[in-house]
Amino acid sequence: MRLTAKFLVAFVLALAVALGATTWLNLERERDLFERDLRHDSLLIGQLVAQAYEHALARGGATAAAAALTDARIAHTGYNVTRVPASAVPEEIAAEVTAGQPAAIRDDSAGPDGRIDTYFTMGSAGVLRVSGSLAAEHLYLRETKERMIFTSLAALLLAAIAASTLGVALIARPTRALVAKARRVGRGDFGEPLVLRQRDELGELATELNAMTEHLAGARDQIVQASEARVAAVEQVRHADRLATVGKLAAGIAHELGTPLNVIGGHARMIQSGEAIGEEVTDSARIIVEQSQRITAIVLQLLDFARRGSGEKAVTDLVPLAHNAVELLASTARKSSLTLAGPRGREPCTARVDAGQVMQVVTNLVVNAIHATPPHGRIDVDVRTTLATAPRPDATARRHVVIEVSDTGSGMDASTRERLFEPFFTTKGVGEGTGLGMAVVHGIVADHDGWVEVASTPGEGSRFSVYLPAA
Ligand SMILES: Nc1ncnc2c1ncn2[C@@H]1O[C@H](COP(=O)(O)OP(=O)(O)OP(=O)(O)O)[C@@H](O)[C@H]1O
Ligand SMILES: [Mg+2]
Repeated sequence: MRLTAKFLVAFVLALAVALGATTWLNLERERDLFERDLRHDSLLIGQLVAQAYEHALARGGATAAAAALTDARIAHTGYNVTRVPASAVPEEIAAEVTAGQPAAIRDDSAGPDGRIDTYFTMGSAGVLRVSGSLAAEHLYLRETKERMIFTSLAALLLAAIAASTLGVALIARPTRALVAKARRVGRGDFGEPLVLRQRDELGELATELNAMTEHLAGARDQIVQASEARVAAVEQVRHADRLATVGKLAAGIAHELGTPLNVIGGHARMIQSGEAIGEEVTDSARIIVEQSQRITAIVLQLLDFARRGSGEKAVTDLVPLAHNAVELLASTARKSSLTLAGPRGREPCTARVDAGQVMQVVTNLVVNAIHATPPHGRIDVDVRTTLATAPRPDATARRHVVIEVSDTGSGMDASTRERLFEPFFTTKGVGEGTGLGMAVVHGIVADHDGWVEVASTPGEGSRFSVYLPAA
C-alpha cells in the first residue's frame, strides 16, 4: 500500500471516529435537555392542575373537580392528566410522593415511544399523574441523528478529497521523484540535481541526496584518476622489468652473437686475403649470408621482447612462444651447466594473449629457475591444455593453457612462498635481484584472467604453473 493511501486511510478513520463520538455526545446531550424540559413542564402543569383540582373540590365538590380535570386535559394537549389511586404510584418513588414531594419516572415500556410520568399528592383528593409522551423526543432525536450523519459524511468526503490532493502533491509526487533520482544514482548516472521546491523533510532529503550524489561523482572521478595512474605506474614497472630482463639476457645473447660473428669474420678475411678462390668464395659468401641472417633473427627476437607491450591481445600458440623464450635463455643456462628443455608436445595450445607479455612471464620464471638451480640441475618448460577451475568463488571448470616451469633447484621455504608475489621481495643480494619479477608475472597473468600455482619443496625444486584461459 502506498504511503499516501496509508495516511489517507488513517486520517479518514480518525476523523470518522472523532465525528462519530461528537455526534453521539451531542445526541445524548439533546436527549437530556429534552427530558429535562419534559419533566419541568410536567411539574408546572401538575402543580397548576393539582391546585385547580383541590380548589374545585373545596368549592364545588367532586363534579367541579372532575370538570377541572377535563379542562386541564383540553388546555394541555400532549400531556395526559389523570387522577390515580395511591397504589398506582411506582415503588421507586412511592415514599417521595407519599411525603408530598412531586416525583417523576421514565417508563420506556409504555406505548410505542415511552413516556415520563410525574406524580403529585393532592392531600385527601388522592394522587394526580401527568404523563408526557416521549414521541416528540424520539422524532426530534431521529431527525437530529440523520442530519448529523449526513453532515459528518459530507465532511468526511471533503476531508478525504482534500487529504488525498495534498498527499499526492506533498508526498506521492516528491517521493516518486526521489525514487527516480535514487535509481539514476544507483545506475551510476550522477547528472542533473533533483529540484524539490518544498521546505519539509522530503525537501531536506532531496538536498542531502544531491549532496551525496555530488560526493559520489567526485569520489568516482578520483577513483578513475587513481586507477589510471596505477595502470600507468604498473605499465612502467613492467617495462622497467622487461628492460632489466633484457639486461640479464644480454650476456647470453652476446655469446649467441659471438659465434656467428666469428664465423662471418673468418670467411670475410679468407675472401679479403685471396685465400679463398673459385667456388670457395661462393661458399664463404653463402655462409656469411646465413650467419648474418641468424644474427638478424636473434636481434629481432630481442627487439620484439624489449619493445613496450602494445597491450593488444591476439590468439597465439603458446608452444612456439615458449620455445622462443627457451632459445633466448639457452646459452645462459648452458653457462651455469644446466639442462634447459623446451616443450615436448607439438599440439598447438592457443590462448588470447599479449605475446610480448607472456614471453616476459616465461622468461622471468626461467631466469628465476636458473638462479635457483645448482650446476648439473634441470629446468623443464612445458605447455599443455587442461580442464581447470579458476580460484574464484563463482568460477566453473573450463579449458586452460598451462605453462609449467619446473626446476631441480633450491626450492622455497614457507615464508618465501608466502611473499613470493610481493613487489620488491627478493632473497638475492643487493644488485642481484630487484624483487619485481614475480610481481610482474602475477600482474600480467591476472590481466589475462589467469592465475599462478606454485609447488615447491626446499632442497628439491619448484614448479610454477601459469593458467591462462584457452582460446
Ligand atoms: N624457481 C625458484 N626457486 C626458488 N626460489 C624462487 C624461485 N623463483 C622465485 N624464487 C624466490 O622468490 C623471490 C622473488 O622472485 P622475483 O623474481 O620476484 O624477484 P628476484 O628474482 O629476486 O628479482 P628480479 O626478478 O626482480 O631480478 C626470489 O628472490 C627467490 O627467493
Ligand atoms: Mg626474478
